[in-house]
Amino acid sequence: MRPKLVAGNWKMNGSLAANRSLVEAVRAGFPAAAGCEVAVCVPAPYLQQVGGLVQGSAIALGAQTLSEHAAGAYTGETSAGMLADLGCRYVIVGHSERRTLFGETSAQVAAKFVAADGAGLVPIVCVGETWPEREAGTTEAVIASQLDAVFAAASASRLGLAVIAYEPVWAIGTGKTATPQQAQAVHAFIRARVAARDAAAAAAVRILYGGSVNAGNASALFACPDIDGGLVGGASLKAADFVAICMAASGRELT
Ligand code: 13P
Repeated sequence: MRPKLVAGNWKMNGSLAANRSLVEAVRAGFPAAAGCEVAVCVPAPYLQQVGGLVQGSAIALGAQTLSEHAAGAYTGETSAGMLADLGCRYVIVGHSERRTLFGETSAQVAAKFVAADGAGLVPIVCVGETWPEREAGTTEAVIASQLDAVFAAASASRLGLAVIAYEPVWAIGTGKTATPQQAQAVHAFIRARVAARDAAAAAAVRILYGGSVNAGNASALFACPDIDGGLVGGASLKAADFVAICMAASGRELT
């Protein structure tokens, strides 16, 4: 059984005061012994603060990106070792905003995956197609090429220890969620792609869905056999919504 994971991606949002009240509210609303894993991926300047706020809770700390380099003259970058030093367990790699707004290539994403894995972090590697790509019938080809870049740099067994997030670009921040059927079809494709290289890794790898996940649609998505949780943007900034999504992943109702 793969334990479900719900990871919040705060993106470039937050402040010292807002982070404190958000984490306190999530901690209060979500029982530590619930049946899913929870993480918050926060802006780099707040990692230390939020690391302190989640201490002693079931919430793990994550970052939103990292450098593929270990150290040196890379102004503004953050290394995997630094994230590990600050207590991160997870790091998002290759989010579509990084790929489109900051020009990250699939080869760079793969190098970041290797850097994260090498430092003992769990990479959450994002893949997903744009709307025109879906319309053109190339969803599987796009995702295959994004995955194959990671396979070219890391063994499939390492992927089994990581997390893959399927985030259709057209569903991110748009309120337009993939239907459970659409998402399940792509998740099954991703798992089969991993299985073609390593059956054990395919059985173990957690595949999250991301893209306008909310308190209303989470249960139906998480009920799909190949959907192992969610990568949640906007709704992770609202404690009540995020807690409700975590409850959906644990198979528990909010009382
Ligand atoms: P939204 O949940 O706001 O659509 O964002 C999804 C996302 O990009 C998570 O990484």
